[in-house]
Amino acid sequence: MKNKQLTVALLGFGVVGSGVAQVITENQDRIVDATGRGADIRYILDLRDFPDSPFADRIVHDFNTIVNDPEVDVVIEMMGGSHPAYEFTRASLEAGKSVITSNKEVVANFGTELLSLAAEKGVRYLFEASVGGGIPVLRPLSQDMAANRVQTIDGILNGTTNYILTRMARGGVSFETALCEAQQKGYAERDPSADVDGHDAARKIVILTAMATGLRIDPNTVPVEGIRYITEADVSIAKAMNCAIKLIGHMGRVEDHLTLWVAPCFVSRQNPLANIDDVFNGVLIDTDMLGQTLFYGRGAGKLPTAGAIVSDLVDIATHPFDAATALRWTDAPAHTLVSPADDGLVCLIYRKGDAMPETEWAPVVSETAQAIIVREGEAETVIARGETRPIATYRMSLL
Ligand code: HSE
Repeated sequence: MKNKQLTVALLGFGVVGSGVAQVITENQDRIVDATGRGADIRYILDLRDFPDSPFADRIVHDFNTIVNDPEVDVVIEMMGGSHPAYEFTRASLEAGKSVITSNKEVVANFGTELLSLAAEKGVRYLFEASVGGGIPVLRPLSQDMAANRVQTIDGILNGTTNYILTRMARGGVSFETALCEAQQKGYAERDPSADVDGHDAARKIVILTAMATGLRIDPNTVPVEGIRYITEADVSIAKAMNCAIKLIGHMGRVEDHLTLWVAPCFVSRQNPLANIDDVFNGVLIDTDMLGQTLFYGRGAGKLPTAGAIVSDLVDIATHPFDAATALRWTDAPAHTLVSPADDGLVCLIYRKGDAMPETEWAPVVSETAQAIIVREGEAETVIARGETRPIATYRMSLL
């Protein structure tokens, strides 16, 4: 592949796919400067035709056209969803083509297997854009911070929910209106419940954890709570406490185990994550040697995500497969993951009336049930009066 122009096929020509075509075209000179060669988009796979697009002549509808063309070096998968994205990724790797993706669902669910297949075939499988949108975080974590032991990761990992929470906190915008805006701006997933209910953030904390530890936790085992039930009353309480409500994805070490969760948190204004608003993401990583590092930038959107994808293309052009340094993950045994109850403080907000929801990972249930309870070890502190139904479990470990 060296010195030859990289021949690329795009799977998907939606928001991100069209962004990748734009970045490769408009910034071709930057790619040539960085790699010594250009990148040529030969095919774009999509169900639709785009007669008015400058790329109309590259549109194909049959994946076999791509996988059977020996001149295609790199397949960039931006289809979303597990299927057929997973099957197309496997087939591309089997055919000896490197694969780049922004698809968190495929990486979190099948990353171990796909990295192993890539190594077996002597090609690369890269997914910088799958976490943090345009923020370079996976490559720094696996390369620049490789001599560190990562202790904790706390991240605002979903742009859509951060946009919604920010709009609600600034007042006057309902949850539904803010979600609509995020969809119009191209931030939300095809099925926005992946954003709103926290599953997208769970996949991202799984990927970050695997990059930090080499262990892939099954995303279906991560306790997840989204922002669907956050109300203006919660936002007011947060403000009164000088906090922001943020949807946080967390990874921590508990002795030899890991704890992962996704939940809305009251984050103190002292914490840099509290001031990360709109579509921006932030990933706060604490390591034994470096201490805390914050990665910050646009967590979703056409060009930021496309830029991260093209950074993987530059990586492939400059670093061909090397068996000694190839990334490999191991699927973590079930006992690796311990309950979030073993990892710090918990806060519940109570509202009057409704029944208590069963959440196996909500270890604090107040007898008095008329307050926000913060628990640290055996000590419980009442920090605000409310009503009596727990509407959300807030982790206070960031305070
Ligand atoms: N829907 C995702 C988000 C896109 O809002 O963060 C970027 O992964």
